[in-house]
Amino acid sequence: MKRCPQLEALSDEHHSALVLARTVSRCAAGRGNFSVAQAWDQVEKAFANELDPHFCVEEKFMIPPLEKKSLPEIDEMLARFHREHRELRECIRNTQKRDAESLARFAELLHDHVRFEERTLFNAAEENLSQEELDLILEVHPRRPQEGLVSQVTQK
Ligand SMILES: [Fe+2]
Repeated sequence: MKRCPQLEALSDEHHSALVLARTVSRCAAGRGNFSVAQAWDQVEKAFANELDPHFCVEEKFMIPPLEKKSLPEIDEMLARFHREHRELRECIRNTQKRDAESLARFAELLHDHVRFEERTLFNAAEENLSQEELDLILEVHPRRPQEGLVSQVTQK
């Protein structure tokens, strides 16, 4: 499905996040180009530089106007959105647990979360946000060339 121009930058980052999830999932299974420790290192860098800023844009500029709609089907999506952002952040914060199992869990969570946003939440945002609300997302988060850390990591 074609994404509206205001959400294209966030959608591009979803694509990079899926590539990252696939790459580190292979590392967790012992079939990747990095060790588990190296893969965790890459995940932490990618999270700090790309994923967390991406989460913040969604949380500050996409979610509040959707919350105001007070529609039960959207409220369910928002509960899942918040739960998954919290779980992904907990994986990153829990630096004691940096083994293959936790790496595989992070990769699975990230993959499933991005799929949910692309297939469900972003479609609801396109249908329910006003042009002004969508334009504000573009204004604070314009489309960038594919030069982010996630893409650098995964192209190695
Ligand atoms: Fe997202």
